Amino acid sequence: MRGEGVYVWDADGNRYLDFSGSAAVNFIGHGVREISDAMVEQARQLEFVHTSQFTTPVAEEFAQELLDFAGDNFRGGAVYFTCGGSESVETALKLARQYQVEIGQTKRHQVLSRNQSYHGATLGALAVSGNRKRREIYLPMVREFEHVGMPYCYRCAFDCTDSCYNCGQQYAAELERAIETANGEAAGFISEPMSGATLGAVTPPPGYLAAIAEICRRHGVLLIADEVMTGMGRTGRNFAVEHWQVAPDILITAKGISSGYAPLGVVIASKRVVDAIAAGSEGGQECPPHTGSGAFLHGFTYNAHPISVAAGRAVLARIRSSNLVHAADSQAKGTAGSALKKALESLRDLDAVGDVRGLGLLWGVEFVADKKSKAPFPSEKNFSGLVGQSCRQRGLLVYPMQGSVDGVGGDHLLIAPPAVITAEQVGWAAEQMRAAVLEASAR
Ligand SMILES: Cc1ncc(COP(=O)(O)O)c(C=O)c1O
Repeated sequence: MRGEGVYVWDADGNRYLDFSGSAAVNFIGHGVREISDAMVEQARQLEFVHTSQFTTPVAEEFAQELLDFAGDNFRGGAVYFTCGGSESVETALKLARQYQVEIGQTKRHQVLSRNQSYHGATLGALAVSGNRKRREIYLPMVREFEHVGMPYCYRCAFDCTDSCYNCGQQYAAELERAIETANGEAAGFISEPMSGATLGAVTPPPGYLAAIAEICRRHGVLLIADEVMTGMGRTGRNFAVEHWQVAPDILITAKGISSGYAPLGVVIASKRVVDAIAAGSEGGQECPPHTGSGAFLHGFTYNAHPISVAAGRAVLARIRSSNLVHAADSQAKGTAGSALKKALESLRDLDAVGDVRGLGLLWGVEFVADKKSKAPFPSEKNFSGLVGQSCRQRGLLVYPMQGSVDGVGGDHLLIAPPAVITAEQVGWAAEQMRAAVLEASAR
């Protein structure tokens, strides 16, 4: 197998256009030589040291570059490197708990989250996820806290007539009630600012994220933004929260941070969180189990692995030098993002296409058996799987998912190509998608 630009070739030499960036991973394109060069150079110099003994220049420099990339909200903050999304989510959950202990809020340990979300495969991350299929059989093993509803305007439970402002406020009020019910035990609230694979690129209604942030602040609950899928330029901003001017206390990203060249994830903590941990004993003297540590009590052997960090650093340099965040912007003229938006919107005339939504280079196409009633296909039909299969036979890779309606029913595709895709390639891919949907509809 090999990869170059937006294409990958299988072992038999068949070429595929990677219209989903694998699983919304690849952002800079495949086969970029400067990334593998940076990894080789780092491996030759130093392959690994444990973070309990040394920090490395590459990790220090990349951490500072990431804080700059994350903007003013994270000035004076800190970066924690992991090997991927799930590890980063676990890290953030524990960081939220330790923060609360350090400031004397020792009762606070619950992390609230949303239905129809995905935060990872490990047990802690699954506990806060809402993806029914991915967690159902493991539920007896996880410690669960409250999950609240999330705005999904295509199938909203509330009144969506005023551009969804009202429904956003209703969903935010649901979070406030859940925090109150937690009775002083809520430590954090985790959410994907824009939903990823589970619902398929659903964007939040106006005012919703601001209301969520305000509720969290007022109740002393840390706001954790999971940007594993949406971070590092994917939505046409450095991080998706910038679209809605929201300032999370903790931000998680992975996938695009290394574009898949090496396993890498990060947790970016704001100064408020870092200061509380560094101060150690602040406010907690009278309240065991206060740690008084002055350090985050957590770690994986491969934190800040030098070769992965070198890959991430070279990827960020590439994102900047090729202006890829702008390329992903679907609201700007002449970009890959705007070409993708236009091409996918053109599929709305198909009988089986109920909704097309998204932002930047992250889009969802939802399928329905009946457009008027929005009735989904029977889940046994696996309509999105059929479309995915037909796309693959035509040389196009997409990310099919089921469960958007209620965790079981509902079909959609996630589309997330590398930002180096051209308008011509987008046009060709949309044609293949159209043919694949028609083929699946005829079966
Ligand atoms: C929003 C979100 N969070 C967390 C994860 C878990 O990341 P990983 O698969 O790298 O462990 C994913 C993976 O798809 C994701 O989309």
